[in-house]
Amino acid sequence: MIKEYIHKNKERFLDELFELLRIESVSADSKFKKEVDKAADWLVGSFEKINLDNVEKIKTKGHPIVYAEKILDDSFPTILVYGHYDVQPADPYELWDSPPFEPTIKNEKIYARGACDDKGQMYMHLKAYESLQNTSKINFNIKFMIEGEEECGSDSLEEFVSNNKEKLSADVIVISDTSIINNDNPSITVGLRGLSYMEVELTGPNRDLHSGTYGGAVNNPINQLCEMIASLKDKNGIIQIPGFYDKVVTYKEEERDIINKVPFDLSEFKSHIDIGDTFGETGFSTVERIGTRPTLDVNGIWGGYTNEGAKTVLPSKAYAKISMRLVSNQSSSEISSLFTNHLNNICPKSCKIKVTEHHGGEPCVVNTDTKGYRSAYKAFQDVWKKDPVPTFDGGSIPIVALFKKELSLDSILMGFGLDEDAIHSPNESYGLFNFYKGIETITCFYQNFAENEK
Ligand code: BES
Ligand code: MN
Ligand code: MN
Repeated sequence: MIKEYIHKNKERFLDELFELLRIESVSADSKFKKEVDKAADWLVGSFEKINLDNVEKIKTKGHPIVYAEKILDDSFPTILVYGHYDVQPADPYELWDSPPFEPTIKNEKIYARGACDDKGQMYMHLKAYESLQNTSKINFNIKFMIEGEEECGSDSLEEFVSNNKEKLSADVIVISDTSIINNDNPSITVGLRGLSYMEVELTGPNRDLHSGTYGGAVNNPINQLCEMIASLKDKNGIIQIPGFYDKVVTYKEEERDIINKVPFDLSEFKSHIDIGDTFGETGFSTVERIGTRPTLDVNGIWGGYTNEGAKTVLPSKAYAKISMRLVSNQSSSEISSLFTNHLNNICPKSCKIKVTEHHGGEPCVVNTDTKGYRSAYKAFQDVWKKDPVPTFDGGSIPIVALFKKELSLDSILMGFGLDEDAIHSPNESYGLFNFYKGIETITCFYQNFAENEK
């Protein structure tokens, strides 16, 4: 029945998603503020179309949150769906094969910014609920909370969650904003990394200098910053910040065996991103490096002269943005201060240093001994005819740890993306197979959750 309904309406589902994908809701860049607002309005309309109640566009200091619910009976279990309608900037535009906000289908995939992260995945939930409304008797309550600031730190949502615990009360949270191993091997995400994101500004002389008159006698902040950054990891990929690993969980050999049993194809991993070899902390597999180990990466570095030709200059300033992905039981604020102290300590007197902290977030591990997890597991078994594999993803959804802390609720991370969907990159895509199969799996999850006793 449900499968038929999805099939009959498949073109319309896609047309609707395309409308949303055409809206340039880039949350990080204030230039797009109106567009972000427009995406929120569009969502309000689509909740109204499926007859949800109390549909609201909630103003915040930042971008609006869209809320909607259907409370059918107080005795029914309540499912809270979280997702985000904002997207990452589409830059660099010239690397897209088709324009990022003109969704295009090619090779059975939707190409657009947000196709997978997270408009396509979030919208599956609306269509899953609609499909159930038209085919079965619904025996659960549903609440939707879709935010517009996930890609820039979820600041407003944190405040909203803390102030609206009653409104958001539920029995489980479900989020489709992660990935599966591949279309033959479905998986459920049971761990996400946390994040500390830092910016470093190094100042040498008080102005740019002639690199001949002064070079060799005055420290160059770019040279110095490079040296400092290089010292943050040794040649075995081990981070050299004192205390950095103190709280990192160590998994037992049996647990590592389970983690490494995932059907992960290393040569496919390498060929997709065209690298000759992988790189990382000695003693850990690629799967472990991504899922269970912390890391440190320079996201951007700049300073000095970068325009055409050659300018002989000893620059006054050098900058870098550096992020650290964290695992349990590291704390984002602790790691940020360890980083700040360490950089201050290793900066020589010949330069001045300023370290600032951007948004961060805590790592999370999902409890699998819950009705929610069992319902998701069974949904994959029923729809994909395969046992899903629990996986630790390397990305971060900081709000998940906050949901646990503020609402005492576990989140079920039931995403359907693939690594090759290139989220945050040019030519982001989302498979049509994943979109429709995802809708079906979500309907099954809702029903399992409503029916299962425990
Ligand atoms: N959906 C992603 C997170 C993700 C992607 C988790 C793939 C697992 C698999 C989310 O939108 C995201 O990009 N999060 C940011 C963190 C945020 C604080 C900017 C990230 O991971 O960089
Ligand atoms: Mn996302
Ligand atoms: Mn993202």
